[in-house]
Amino acid sequence: MIIAIDGPAASGKGTIAKRLAVHYGLRHLDSGLLYRGVAKAVIERGRDPGDRDAAIAAARAFEPGRYPESALKGDDVAKAASRVAAIPEVREALIAFQRGFARSKPGVVIDGRDIATVIAPDADVKIFVTATPQERARRRLLELQGRGEPADEAAVLADILARDERDTRRTVAPLTQAPDAHLLDTTYLAIDAAVRAAIDIVEAVRTGRKPA
Ligand code: CDP
Repeated sequence: MIIAIDGPAASGKGTIAKRLAVHYGLRHLDSGLLYRGVAKAVIERGRDPGDRDAAIAAARAFEPGRYPESALKGDDVAKAASRVAAIPEVREALIAFQRGFARSKPGVVIDGRDIATVIAPDADVKIFVTATPQERARRRLLELQGRGEPADEAAVLADILARDERDTRRTVAPLTQAPDAHLLDTTYLAIDAAVRAAIDIVEAVRTGRKPA
């Protein structure tokens, strides 16, 4: 089984994907970490994430697991990731790895922006997770504060809006809901309820019933 989860920043897609993988005994890939890894490599070389040649070279030399996840979680890396992710050759260089992962046994949950549309258009279940920008900014703020990073609510909201804009407007593999994806709005759902709703969607698809 392939479960594709797409959605904007701080919509809850990462946590939902992780918990679905545990629930169904599937492997999980957070595809955002690939773009973050490329961005980190570019920054480490002292280059600007908008530098096409540096970003393309880093994507072509990409090695999964090169950086620990903790080194990729910062907001500066996220911002840089959304810039390198807009470069078509960067995306192209990361496709084979993701499609290879999608064929892993016994099945996978992959979360990102273009999983249902580009990476695994034949996924068995597609879920588009969203929430209002204000709610997503509130969650991201709590996450940053939890990690002891200085954060300001207005700045976090502005970052989220700028990233949404870049991710939805780019010409290649923009963030968009696949026509056959199920919409899961988590604005008013705590994480446990959101995970239950996602499991309900998967079960509905598996049994041919309409999701609640
Ligand atoms: O969790 P959050 O949304 O903050 O970040 P992420 O999922 O790690 O993604 C970071 C950035 O990578 C996004 O803003 C996208 O620009 C890019 N990305 C992408 O273009 N395609 C994907 N499949 C995953 C991430």
